[in-house]
Amino acid sequence: MSLLFSPIKIKDIVLKNRIVVSPMCQYSSFDGFANDWHFVHLGSRAVGGAGLVITEAAAVSPEGRISPDDLGIWKDEHIEGLQKITAFIKANGAEAGIQLAHAGRKASVSSQWKGGKLVSEVDGGWQVVGPSEIPFNDTYGLPKALTKVEIKTIVNDFKLAAERSLKAGFSVVEIHAAHGYLIHQFLSPLSNLRTDEYGGSFENRIRFLLEIIEEVKTVWPETLPLFVRISATEWAEGGWNEDDSIKLAHILKSIGVDLIDTSTGGNIHYAKIPVAPAYQVSYAQNIKKETGILTGAVGLLTTSTQIESILVTGQADLIFLARELLRDPYFPLRAAAELGQKDVQWPVQYERGKFR
Ligand SMILES: Cc1cc2nc3c(=O)[nH]c(=O)nc-3n(C[C@H](O)[C@H](O)[C@H](O)COP(=O)(O)O)c2cc1C
Repeated sequence: MSLLFSPIKIKDIVLKNRIVVSPMCQYSSFDGFANDWHFVHLGSRAVGGAGLVITEAAAVSPEGRISPDDLGIWKDEHIEGLQKITAFIKANGAEAGIQLAHAGRKASVSSQWKGGKLVSEVDGGWQVVGPSEIPFNDTYGLPKALTKVEIKTIVNDFKLAAERSLKAGFSVVEIHAAHGYLIHQFLSPLSNLRTDEYGGSFENRIRFLLEIIEEVKTVWPETLPLFVRISATEWAEGGWNEDDSIKLAHILKSIGVDLIDTSTGGNIHYAKIPVAPAYQVSYAQNIKKETGILTGAVGLLTTSTQIESILVTGQADLIFLARELLRDPYFPLRAAAELGQKDVQWPVQYERGKFR
């Protein structure tokens, strides 16, 4: 049996295989609501055979959106549309996860196809916030440094969002602490120059993330998986690095986080990233080896043999795929055939299309 198609139990949830739909912003919401696009986009990847389908970054507050068109989960009215999606995903043999996020200083920009520019307040944008008054680069907004009261409010927003996620039928929550968004901004000594208990030392910079996890855990059941996505390095001198990530992973494991979804980059605009096939996998491998926590590998993973070998060599426990699943939502069914996994179930409606 291929490892890719062997089930994995995390807390009380069993994923039928190790393929995860990596979170992917769709910039297709109005006022944060999920709509037919999200239903078809996420639903077809469940039909395509992924074991776990995670939504795009869902904003925990309106100011936490990257663009005005982001998905959100900051009000109870958002629950119903998401419920329809999670029910369909589950009915098609996959589990449903949601990524909870706040974009911080990288917020209030338009999607790439609308120009990827700062959206001013008159055009529906908003004042961006961050740990310190340092913009991502000179095309992004100048963040207002969060007060301690505002930090507590955002921590609470994550908790409320997790509570709504449960009501919406998700069985996995992933906290987005990567890619230069708000939590990552706090982690990094390059974007966090605070002098209070949220800045300075490693312990202070991780405090915001730990407080979020602590609050989320008051509403998210012990029986359901909690993932955290991090940027294991920011590829910049003096920035957050692999040693920091391993140190953090030890702590996250000890407070009940189940898996580190191991990405990199996104916080430093001048970083030089050596992009190549599987270029982030060694970070998942080292975090797993050093701490024993489950890891997810992500980034330029595109073939069945490549991802099977990542699992077989013990570098990661789950494989997160983004662009390959945009090209081919049925990649998991194709990969099963390529790996000789004939017993993988196809949707009955599609059985006549099965590879023989
Ligand atoms: C269209 C698109 C949207 C994305 N949106 C998110 C997101 O909402 N949250 C996130 O953590 N990563 C996001 N990513 C990054 C992916 O989850 C993934 O980490 C990255 O694309 C590398 O994987 P890949 O080589 O399989 O595409 C996005 C990527 C793409 C292509």
